[in-house]
Amino acid sequence: MEVLYFCNAKIKAFKKFNRNSRCTIFDTRMRSINLFKKIFVMAILLCTFLSLLFWSDLGILNFTSLAVKTIPVKNKLCYVSMNDERIQMNNKTDLKMIYYITPTYPRPEQIPELTRLSHTLMHVPRIHWVIADDQPTCSEVVKNVLRKSGIPFTHIASPKPFHYRSNNFPRGVANRRAALDWIRHNVREGILYFGDDDNTIDLELFEEMRLTKKVSMFPVGLIGGYGVSSPIIKDGKVAGFFDSWPGSRTFPVDMAGFAVNIEYLTSTASMPYIAGHEEDKFLVSLGLKIEDIEPLADNCTKILVWHTRTVKFKKPTLKIKLDKITGETYKNFADLIKETSKLGMATIDSTSGTKPLITYDRKTYESLTDIL
Ligand SMILES: *[C@@H]1O[C@H](CO)[C@@H](O)[C@H](O)[C@H]1NC(C)=O
Ligand SMILES: *[C@@H]1O[C@H](CO)[C@@H](O)[C@H](O)[C@H]1NC(C)=O
Repeated sequence: MEVLYFCNAKIKAFKKFNRNSRCTIFDTRMRSINLFKKIFVMAILLCTFLSLLFWSDLGILNFTSLAVKTIPVKNKLCYVSMNDERIQMNNKTDLKMIYYITPTYPRPEQIPELTRLSHTLMHVPRIHWVIADDQPTCSEVVKNVLRKSGIPFTHIASPKPFHYRSNNFPRGVANRRAALDWIRHNVREGILYFGDDDNTIDLELFEEMRLTKKVSMFPVGLIGGYGVSSPIIKDGKVAGFFDSWPGSRTFPVDMAGFAVNIEYLTSTASMPYIAGHEEDKFLVSLGLKIEDIEPLADNCTKILVWHTRTVKFKKPTLKIKLDKITGETYKNFADLIKETSKLGMATIDSTSGTKPLITYDRKTYESLTDIL
């Protein structure tokens, strides 16, 4: 008993001592923890405030996505051609029409990309090309590509709403919305497909997607970190998705990875201005269920569309006084320069830019400004 008492007293004393010394340390710690807490709370509050401020621009919050609908967009219907002018092309109406929606924007690669795509689409029977160009005016050069293809088309000028020009603004949404709007008002049946101007698409895929009842899906190559994005098929049904950026999406798929039957396009169907979530939110807005998805491309075992991309070309500015090139000798050359500028592959400026040279043989170079 005595020993035990002694021990207890010692422990008590030790505890007391220890507690005291700890208390002073604890006090200073407490103070710095409190300060830290305050800073932390302030930081959280500040972050919340800032996110509310900026996210509202991206339409992540519900009240702002409602506001999106009221933002005035100045779309312009440039030209509609319902005639299939292609010779030897089956235009029998028993085939469902495919509405191929292409958002595009002016850049040096625009016309070559559209030309290449037009050469694919020209092989597809019963197709209507809806091109929505991201600029306020109707582009003459874009219309020329459409005209030359002989494909029925709709040409829309659909500039981004002014409000959304800055920040992380998703490209192509205003265009796709404008195209969807045109389809809603003018089309009752057919198949809808979103194909960018830089995608490569196998002709086989068109005949497969034509049979879409609600929403069909298929793999897209050259995308994300996995090389391919695709639904995973088990017993002919979608069992999951393979996409390097799940992003908490119900349908983690690429824009080029699905087709929709227009009869299934509900009035609630819409695409938000949220980068990375355009496809998913659109599919969700259709009320799509995973079990409704129709897998194509041999149960998603084949890649029939790719996300090819042209390397960006920096548009040069050339210092050329075009109005000074009036002589017969350089008439054709002046026309070529005008065409280059018209197709958006170079800017011609009379006062600044690279001074271009003309060569006559391997040795003689002459500045364009000298010869005028
Ligand atoms: C179908 O093709 C024929 C022959 O080329 C043409 O006369 C007709 O206008 C076309 N129909 C449509 C709807 O484009
Ligand atoms: C896809 O898979 C289902 C179930 O295994 C099978 O019945 C069907 O024939 C397959 N389709 C194709 C095009 O291979």
